[in-house]
Amino acid sequence: MTKTARRTPIAILASGRGSNFEALMTALDQGRFAAEVKALICDKPGAPVLEKARARGIPAILLHQPGPAQPLGERKLHWRDALLRVLEPLDVRFLVLAGYMRILHDDVIEAYRDPRGYARIVNIHPSLLPAFPGLHSYEQAFRHGCKVTGATVHFVEPEMDSGPICAQEAFAIDGCRDADEVERLGLALEHRLYPETLRWILEEKFDLQCRDTNRRRLCCVRPN
Ligand code: GRF
Repeated sequence: MTKTARRTPIAILASGRGSNFEALMTALDQGRFAAEVKALICDKPGAPVLEKARARGIPAILLHQPGPAQPLGERKLHWRDALLRVLEPLDVRFLVLAGYMRILHDDVIEAYRDPRGYARIVNIHPSLLPAFPGLHSYEQAFRHGCKVTGATVHFVEPEMDSGPICAQEAFAIDGCRDADEVERLGLALEHRLYPETLRWILEEKFDLQCRDTNRRRLCCVRPN
């Protein structure tokens, strides 16, 4: 990538250990994709990813926490407002989710809706979606006796782990002894696949082809 490549302003959202955050930052340093990381936004106090961001000089923002007794409906609105409040002044073009363990409120998704139909919010999920949405996907694949599993980079829609698939890669797990081994292989794949995919997504160099006239948002995304 040339040094003059446009650096798309992004915010990275994460909740935990932050191995994908680290992989993205390393890839950025090596010029494997171009972005200006305006902030790392986290919903979990004490999450290791906060320290990782600070160590790299990236502003680390912990979202305002809801009160312990707040009912579920109010909590959802709390997270929506807390996130929109920090995002507004950052003025980023894309949100990049890297292990953000909270479902985004529709209003957040709509705030990043592109005229072409998709939302400019990208996620990496540890399975071959639509298989194994939700938690512990590598473990689920292992327990089901799957012969292969994989990782998926996709645009985010309100339903959990749904939205147009941008990139997907499979790996064999038939020989794995336990779910930890599957996860180790999977994370190594994620750390390569995510920057590779963000390279063309953030440059917005892709075609969309709708494949379901009833569900406008079911479409195939391909780099062009
Ligand atoms: C990764 O497996 C990612 O695919 C999923 O959550 C996990 C986050 O791991 N969305 P890390 O915090 O990036 O190490």
